[in-house]
Amino acid sequence: MGNEILNEAENYTIRRISGGEEDDIFQQLSELDKICIGAEGWSAESFRSEAAKENGIVLACFNGERLAGLLAGYTAAGEGDITTAAVSPEYRRQGIAYRLMQEFFSLLPEDSAEVFLEVRESNIPAIELYKKCGFKQVGLRKRFYSQPEESAVVMKAEKNNCGDIK
Ligand SMILES: CC(C)(COP(=O)(O)OP(=O)(O)OC[C@H]1O[C@@H](n2cnc3c(N)ncnc32)[C@H](O)[C@@H]1OP(=O)(O)O)[C@@H](O)C(=O)NCCC(=O)NCCS
Repeated sequence: MGNEILNEAENYTIRRISGGEEDDIFQQLSELDKICIGAEGWSAESFRSEAAKENGIVLACFNGERLAGLLAGYTAAGEGDITTAAVSPEYRRQGIAYRLMQEFFSLLPEDSAEVFLEVRESNIPAIELYKKCGFKQVGLRKRFYSQPEESAVVMKAEKNNCGDIK
């Protein structure tokens, strides 16, 4: 793949996953998503179908051979959308999610002016991550999530402000 970043000092590699890869990687992505997000985590099939879409972006961060983090999203009609992000508990607070966000923004097409996402109102780590990446709250969707029921904070970043990500 052309989208490989290697941080040799920390042995982290971020790689864009394509739809044609081995089942094993999609299984690993699904397992990590479910560990981090719970029952709402994506299935292996969902990751594969997202990666296979022309406008889908699925990123995986490896520490050596080990999957440490993931981020998925897509672009459509001049917008980007982040649909899931997860970092394995033992790899948190090392900047992996931030680096995955940087990579996502770098892959957005020219015509993507804004990026949106939804996040559980109580998910302070994720909300803080997104704020650090230039997102601001633009709405609240009442009772958007179930199990447990919770509102979703809707956040938006202007692509130009995503340049704040360094
Ligand atoms: C949210 C999540 C992806 C962050 O991953 P991470 O790799 O630990 O995040 P980073 O190390 O890149 O942190 C970047 C910034 O996010 C914020 N942040 C991350 N974790 C935080 C925490 N526990 N408390 C407060 N702020 C936090 C900080 O601003 C941090 O910058 P800093 O370390 O310089 O203070 C991770 O906690 C996770 O997988 N959570 C469970 C799954 C989830 O909630 N996904 C999001 C669904 S919308």
